[in-house]
Amino acid sequence: MYVKWDDSYSNGIEVFDNQHKGLFKLINDLHDGIREKKNREALGTALVALMDYTKTHFADEENAMRLAGYPDYEKHKTKHVAFIAQVSDIRDRYLNNEPVMTMELVALLVNWLKNHIQTVDRAYGPHLKASGA
Ligand SMILES: [Fe+2]
Ligand SMILES: [Fe+2]
Repeated sequence: MYVKWDDSYSNGIEVFDNQHKGLFKLINDLHDGIREKKNREALGTALVALMDYTKTHFADEENAMRLAGYPDYEKHKTKHVAFIAQVSDIRDRYLNNEPVMTMELVALLVNWLKNHIQTVDRAYGPHLKASGA
């Protein structure tokens, strides 16, 4: 296991804590696949699974923030959009047979997600809780 959940990632909103745990699991799957030198197809599948789940998760968060009138909604959404663009680029390069699937790539994804979850995602917790999420 590469990333392990602990309370420093919790923002108190159960549905999003669970989705963040799901993201960690997909990152661990991708990491294990690279370490075990799985074939190209398997790694591509793991990357796409992570990307799809990330998109769904971001959309759910954005919806909840918008409905709750969260003041930093736009700023938060901009960060999501930038991350998806970055991961899409990596996926496209991978599908173009460029050698991008490395541990450094996983580290980059992990560092972004960890940091995002521990800072901006934690920041919306109290506001969403107060508005009944
Ligand atoms: Fe999140
Ligand atoms: Fe977020």
